[in-house]
Amino acid sequence: MHFWESVLCALLASLFSAILGGLYMAGVFRKRRPKEPPLDKGLIPWLGHGLSFKKNPVEFLEKMKKKHGDIFTVLVGGNYLNFVMDPHTYGTIIKESKDKLDFDTFASTVVFNVFGFRPSESHHKIVQTVSKKYLRGKNLADLNQVMMENLKTVIFCGLGSGDGERPWQQDGVLHFSYKAMFQAAFMTLFGTDPPKSGDSKETSKDHTATQCGEWFEDFQKFDKYLPQMIIGIMDPLSKKETERLRNFFWDVLSVEKVYQKDNMSNWVAEQDQQMADIGMTEKMRSQFLFLLLWASQGNTGPAIFWVFVHLLKHPEAMKAVKEEVDRILKETDQEVKPGSPLINVSLETIKTPVLDSTIEETLRLNVSPFLFRSIMEDMDLTMADGREYSLRKGDQLLLFPFVGLQIDPEIYPDPQTFKYDRFLNPDGTKKEFYKNGEKLKYPIMPWGGGPSMCPGRFFAVSEMKMFVILMVTYFDMELVNKEEKIPPADASHCGIGTSHPSHDIQFRYRRRI
Ligand code: HEM
Repeated sequence: MHFWESVLCALLASLFSAILGGLYMAGVFRKRRPKEPPLDKGLIPWLGHGLSFKKNPVEFLEKMKKKHGDIFTVLVGGNYLNFVMDPHTYGTIIKESKDKLDFDTFASTVVFNVFGFRPSESHHKIVQTVSKKYLRGKNLADLNQVMMENLKTVIFCGLGSGDGERPWQQDGVLHFSYKAMFQAAFMTLFGTDPPKSGDSKETSKDHTATQCGEWFEDFQKFDKYLPQMIIGIMDPLSKKETERLRNFFWDVLSVEKVYQKDNMSNWVAEQDQQMADIGMTEKMRSQFLFLLLWASQGNTGPAIFWVFVHLLKHPEAMKAVKEEVDRILKETDQEVKPGSPLINVSLETIKTPVLDSTIEETLRLNVSPFLFRSIMEDMDLTMADGREYSLRKGDQLLLFPFVGLQIDPEIYPDPQTFKYDRFLNPDGTKKEFYKNGEKLKYPIMPWGGGPSMCPGRFFAVSEMKMFVILMVTYFDMELVNKEEKIPPADASHCGIGTSHPSHDIQFRYRRRI
């Protein structure tokens, strides 16, 4: 063979192997093996179903569930995602050992993309242990009391008191509720500014609340970029803006600044201390504190929006909740009239079945996290009905209880309709739910599950209850346009936790007493 012929052959061979390698990487040759879930690669190599999945994950997964049943593998942007839709099998998956199904690998990449540091297993352990200590039981009761006082500061700030009819004020339901929650929870968890000389504690608290209100606007901007940040794909302008916002919050939450505050919660202080003890740098500690700020605010604010907007849109629900709150105030001998002190409730000592059901129904309809596990070794998965499937090392396993559970018409008839008493039996006890005739262990899963289950869930529910109790007790409220529909969820935020509305909706409020 002549020299040039040999060169040409070598070039052709390497081109051929590059093409083959590319096609292999694009998943063209992957075939379903015996016992593996149905495989759906879509029509476009590598991208697979990426576009439909990104456009509307709920619609896409409902379609796949209809086509393939309760377990299937789809190709999305070069990744093979195994979805398990059978809620009776969720328990087995979330309890599986970390050697087989790992939560940390994916979580650590997301945290790095969004918050700029890579958490390790020991960081995760600190979060879970300290949260268990301070966000439950007696410590939670103490935290709730602080939150209640801060909510009162924020909600009544600038509204005055006394007799006489007050003018209506107007705001977006999302803006009003998310902002109030952000301000009060920030002060509760991260503390308040110490009083300047001559200022009272109250004045200094009002000042912190106003400052938190300003920070809220930037926090909301950051929140909007979250879906893009998670996948790590950003245009240059968005990248620049997210950098600015991150730097801003790292500064607000710098170790130097947070330790100047009074009354930082034990939940924050002890986590920070333990992180410092295991050698986290000051920069990383600020990054971690920003992560805590987002985790404690990013889902709760939008969740209280949905609770509040459902109440405003459903007068029968608002009436039932108001009656329940009135009953509690009567039972606890509290008067709501001009001149009397603002109400106080210890959530641990009262029963609120109607409000509980309202909140659960809201979480069912509006919280839709993906539960992500990396498959660490080839393994078998036994479904609750005994079917066995093989899963491949390197693929991902995902649960999406929103489609698999929360809007399943067999479990929740008329699933898209808000029914405030859906979780209540006529005698006031909690309802149970069934699929295929079998009782469901987890009727809804807004908090995720297993080792990464949200440790702030009890505090989150308390925050929502306190907000509703104060609002229905002291305010007249109505939507500006009673005919306006509740905004749909913004598809780009789907799967992250609480969904965001596509736009805000205006309401009027005025203090009654
Ligand atoms: C309605 C409000 C909330 C919702 C829907 C929510 C939901 C979630 C979800 C789905 C996860 C991930 C679970 C998983 O992947 O398995 C999570 C994690 C977490 N949440 Fe929440 N959360 C809320 C409020 C809160 C609050 C108020 C706090 C703290 C005060 C908090 C602290 C955390 C922390 C620290 C994690 C990380 C846990 C870990 O990595 O082990 N959350 N939350």
